[in-house]
Amino acid sequence: MNKLDTSLVTAALKQAGFELSENGQGYDVVLFNTCSVREHAEKKVFSHLGQLQHEKQTKPELIVAVMGCMAQRLGDELLEYEAVDIVCGPGQIPQLPKMLTEAMEQRAKRIAVSDNPRGQVETAQSAELEDFETVFDHEDKNIPGQAFVRAMRGCDNFCSYCIVPYVRGPEVSRPVNAILEQIRRLADEGVKQVTLLGQTVNSYNYNDGGRSYSLADLLDKVSQIDGIEWIKFVTNYPLERGYGDLLAAMRDLPKVCEYLHIPAQSGSDRILKAMNRKYTRGQYLDMIAKAKETVPGINIAGDFIVGFPGETEKDFQDTISLIERARYRNCFVFKYSPRPGTKGEKRLMDDVPENIKKQRNNRLLAVQEKISGELAKGFVGKKIRVLVEGLSKKPHLNNSNGRQMPQLLGRTAGDWIVVFNGPKQLEGQFADVRITKAKPLTLFGELQKPCES
Ligand code: 5AD
Ligand code: SF4
Repeated sequence: MNKLDTSLVTAALKQAGFELSENGQGYDVVLFNTCSVREHAEKKVFSHLGQLQHEKQTKPELIVAVMGCMAQRLGDELLEYEAVDIVCGPGQIPQLPKMLTEAMEQRAKRIAVSDNPRGQVETAQSAELEDFETVFDHEDKNIPGQAFVRAMRGCDNFCSYCIVPYVRGPEVSRPVNAILEQIRRLADEGVKQVTLLGQTVNSYNYNDGGRSYSLADLLDKVSQIDGIEWIKFVTNYPLERGYGDLLAAMRDLPKVCEYLHIPAQSGSDRILKAMNRKYTRGQYLDMIAKAKETVPGINIAGDFIVGFPGETEKDFQDTISLIERARYRNCFVFKYSPRPGTKGEKRLMDDVPENIKKQRNNRLLAVQEKISGELAKGFVGKKIRVLVEGLSKKPHLNNSNGRQMPQLLGRTAGDWIVVFNGPKQLEGQFADVRITKAKPLTLFGELQKPCES
């Protein structure tokens, strides 16, 4: 979601005459897009702001802007920091180019955030965001051939640890036609893979003149767009409602990738209840079983929080056993971080010591690594299609100077990373690769042939 906001704002700023500075040199404006999900992310921003305050002593004309969830969460408090000139919430990003231009001309601090982010979403604000989204979506792509497209904004789930409903506001599904029009345009520009985004994208529900559209309906419509080859969607809440239809869409629509990110957060019923997650361990495992049965070969990914208030070793063991039962393709593991204003922070003691959180974090990752390693081995010898993202992260191997076949990185429909040598021109294209070696997080292979589609 933040990557998408960053690229929309970058495109809007370019149109307003700003340029990205080269190698972080020669800049007049520093703009932070921020996340409030864990305290660690906020601390990093504060540390940068401290450095910028120093820098401003010798460069007083520098403008520093903070956008995103931290801007919405802290509002005026953030504006009081000496280094900060502009504070702009996620619902106000269309105003950012004007705010920056004015701040540069008039040298006065500026703030635009929602007074009541959980209030009724105003039609004017919604329309402004819609426009912004559709005008600037195609300008600045993070990865060639791919684009993120927002299906929904906000969240209504109020998991007790989570700040998102407070800063991103209530759940709003974007109009089907706006999404489809946007994707058609992206396809015309050569985009091959779209990822539909939402905090709980599987709750997508748009009413159009009496006809209501679920995520499965939306996937069906997007599938009909020529040029789009792969469709992904993140992230999902383990909900019974509409789940069967969603799995059937994945099974029946060839363009819908067989990848399901469906965070469990914990394997203990007691902790799930305290987290205000609305399913039990048993229901969750049934959903995983149903996914594997309906879509053979499906790649399932999850998120977990360790060290939630009151989590005992027994609760933690339940999480380990859930991971072992689910056999995820990969898991993201986070240490619990109390977020101001959430029920978790207000009502529950953050009583699991940091060293235990760290230990549990590492233990879960080790369990998952073993599973990922076993699943990865299953690919060795097989030919698999990837969408090439670009040069790999290894500078000594990907140097394209004088090297016809630098090391490239691609991703499969199931979200496996594949590294192989091939011409740089494959960037943004599909390629077939025969897997020769597997590590838990990365597959290695040989290019078979560049594909037509
Ligand atoms: N502390 C730790 N992790 C959190 N997440 C959300 N809120 C918190 C928090 N307060 C994690 C959840 C979610 C992911 C995006 O971040 O696992 O799925
Ligand atoms: Fe946060 Fe829960 Fe909403 Fe996800 S579903 S954004 S964890 S409140």
